Amino acid sequence: MIGNAVHCAPAQTPASRSAPARPPVPPRLTPYGLRCEHRRTPLGVGEPRPLLSWRLASARAGDDPVAYELKVGDWSSGRVEDPAAIGAVYGGPPLLPRTRYGWRVTVWARDGAEGSAESWFETGQDVWQASWIAHDPAAVAHMDPPTEGDQALSHHGLLPCPQLRTSFESTAGVTRARLLISAKGLYEARVNGHRVGDAELAPGWTDYRRRIQYQVHDVTPFLLDGENVLAATVADGWWSGFTGFDPRRPGYHYGRFPELIAELHLTFDDGSTRVVATGEGWRTGHGRIRYGDLLKGECHDARAETHGWDMPGFDDSSWRPAVVTGDDHSLLVASRDEPVRALGELLPISTVLVGPGVHLVDFGQNIAGRVRLAVRDQEPGRRVTVRHGETLDGEDRLHTANLRTADATDVLITAGGAEEVFEPRFTYHGFRYAEVSGLDRLDDIRAVVLHSDTPWTGTFDCSDPEVNRLHDNIGWGQRGNFVSVPTDCPQRDERLGWLADAQVFLPTACFNADVSGFFSKWMRDVVDAQSPEGGFSNVAPLLSGVADEGAPGWADAGVLVPWHLYRVYGDDRFLDVDAMVRWVDFVARHNPDLIWRHRTGPHFADWLAPGPATPREVLATAFFHRSAALTVEAARVRGRYDEAERLGKLAARIRAVFAEAFVGDGGLVEGDTQTGYLLALAFDLLTPEQSRGAAARLAALVEESGPLTGFLGVNLLCPVLSAHGRDDLAHALLRRTDPPSWLYQVRHGATTVWERWDGVGAASMNSFNHYAFGSIGEWLYSGVAGIDQAPGSVAFREVVIRPLPGDLSRASARYESARGLISVSWHNDAEGFRLETRIPPGATATVHLPGGDTRRVTSGDHIFELVRGEKA
Ligand code: BGC
Repeated sequence: MIGNAVHCAPAQTPASRSAPARPPVPPRLTPYGLRCEHRRTPLGVGEPRPLLSWRLASARAGDDPVAYELKVGDWSSGRVEDPAAIGAVYGGPPLLPRTRYGWRVTVWARDGAEGSAESWFETGQDVWQASWIAHDPAAVAHMDPPTEGDQALSHHGLLPCPQLRTSFESTAGVTRARLLISAKGLYEARVNGHRVGDAELAPGWTDYRRRIQYQVHDVTPFLLDGENVLAATVADGWWSGFTGFDPRRPGYHYGRFPELIAELHLTFDDGSTRVVATGEGWRTGHGRIRYGDLLKGECHDARAETHGWDMPGFDDSSWRPAVVTGDDHSLLVASRDEPVRALGELLPISTVLVGPGVHLVDFGQNIAGRVRLAVRDQEPGRRVTVRHGETLDGEDRLHTANLRTADATDVLITAGGAEEVFEPRFTYHGFRYAEVSGLDRLDDIRAVVLHSDTPWTGTFDCSDPEVNRLHDNIGWGQRGNFVSVPTDCPQRDERLGWLADAQVFLPTACFNADVSGFFSKWMRDVVDAQSPEGGFSNVAPLLSGVADEGAPGWADAGVLVPWHLYRVYGDDRFLDVDAMVRWVDFVARHNPDLIWRHRTGPHFADWLAPGPATPREVLATAFFHRSAALTVEAARVRGRYDEAERLGKLAARIRAVFAEAFVGDGGLVEGDTQTGYLLALAFDLLTPEQSRGAAARLAALVEESGPLTGFLGVNLLCPVLSAHGRDDLAHALLRRTDPPSWLYQVRHGATTVWERWDGVGAASMNSFNHYAFGSIGEWLYSGVAGIDQAPGSVAFREVVIRPLPGDLSRASARYESARGLISVSWHNDAEGFRLETRIPPGATATVHLPGGDTRRVTSGDHIFELVRGEKA
């Protein structure tokens, strides 16, 4: 028996088992984690009225803010009485281009004490003077034909990566140098031999026909007195390389050859300025990179290295003039996201010689990235080939059938010498294993982990090591698939920004990492891809050859994703109400009787469900209602009350139509499938009485066969079961090890989450790094550990702590929410249940203890103890 809870005031902060060391908690209310447009000290902010935000911490319970003041340069918001605020939009005079603004936030606590913190950002520019330049496009036709080896790899049509350079004289006294740069394709810039920045695969993927992001880099330390060189290598990337599964030649989707645009803005100590820009006078040639393609791989002929090409003193007279291809700047926009970066390295866990000069290397973890190889004491001209795979075929053979046409093969032709380091620059692969051929021994090899830089915000740990491994696998799936856009998979010839995959995984992603900037950029891609009639697409960025309109649960991400982002981060600018309304009206227009049956595009149903198919109209109409209902909410938040009223009526009609057409006695939902019940319950399509019946039927189906949902129901399984009183069943699903199940994958050696529940299927559709089924990650935080927010709450202002122990003996989670740190750590054993939790300043929490006891608490640290047995 569980007794009444004892709420103890903690003398010290609660301990957390798996979490990294905590930063010290300030004794009094203090802002920290300052962000501008969701990024830390960004260069090149394009937003005219940027959002400045902060988190809060205090060691004192109940030390909540009552007011804040924001100062940006000379502008001040004045003291604003707003106890909920964790950010505000700049409201001062127009910001100047390319200018650094310092800013400070001060918060006042209830007792009058104040705390403050400072940060800065720099603005970008709207007006450009540079021209787009390229390697002479006519000359590409005369390039050397590919070598025999290249032909064998079917690299037809892949061209050497152009190098572009200019030199200029500068005097001493440069106080500030900013490089604003972008490419149609990918670029890597260099100034006087230094690599500029640490972005990979820049400028990132957008629909380049609509928007091209530029980045800004601080290159002040690289400038010299005298001759200076500004240079860049460009590659095809998503722009003109192989992209997606369309087998057509590169250049089909966006462009035919890479182009560069750059402006170097110099400020001297006497206040004078100078701009060095791409345009006439740039020279271009080729170096060691014979080709670099995202899907095919990259080939370096180190013998062709143009030593010193990015340094002063290089003789570029044999290079040809770069071609000016245009000066249209209308599509250039400042980056909204942090770039892809190299964010980790893995050493092999084993290396096996599998043939003469062929090594199979196991990095122990399925990732997205590439291999870095140091090659020592080789003769010139040796060909070293690195192939990649996620799994092995039988014994010691790389399995590559699931890569389809992505060769994922990198090649080095050695120059010879003491040591050469080979790391591709313009490709990435999804792999755990690498097969290296052409070397008798491997001197130094490691895997470089690449992903969009989204600061990690969550940790989770519990008493079941297999569940912990599942949590890790989910995190690795997130890393490997957040590569400029949220992709379905990083290995095969697909890697597209599928909307459903993103919407089902988003809640998990938001716990794991701060994905606000990443999704702020991607939501632009989603809206860019919306058709003139209002249809959201199935993938974003859009590219030719992929069915582009309207699958239920895919296109609806155009509403579901921004709504969730708003709730998590509190930034109502995520809510592009016009785009949402256009979508809902579009579906309504095509389906006047409000049953979504008219196919506006493909219908992927409940993709990869292993069980009986959910009737398509049930599934589609449920999403139609969900999109309409959330658009109503969004319209209210943005003060669009007329739209809210109009669509509120529409949502009510869809709900009635759904009930009439698909809901039978006792809450039976047509098709009688798990996903049918999950959608009806989660999307509020049933009366309370029907809900009881539907929940019972869902539970029975789950008990009978385990999880039988595809992508569109999987994220709802455990949350809906526990919301309807069946956390026992949710736990049973979590811990289940027979297929289909999450731990089946873990037991079979998964280090990421598989595309299919059981990992069995045609090789061409069998990715081992697909995150949709990893969407249970949300429930590990919100259910097992118990960190959630109340239904109407935004940015965790009203926290809900509701741990669901099941038969686990402990769990803990830490989550750096938009408001500040929320943590939970609980133990459950024969003696009782003990919970430690931290609630950030400005928030309150409702704590639901096992056994039904509920407490309201303020911000700060809290401990609850439930004693079992006689003592209670
Ligand atoms: C992708 C999925 C995607 C689906 C659409 C697949 O090829 O890998 O993740 O959502 O197509 O049904």
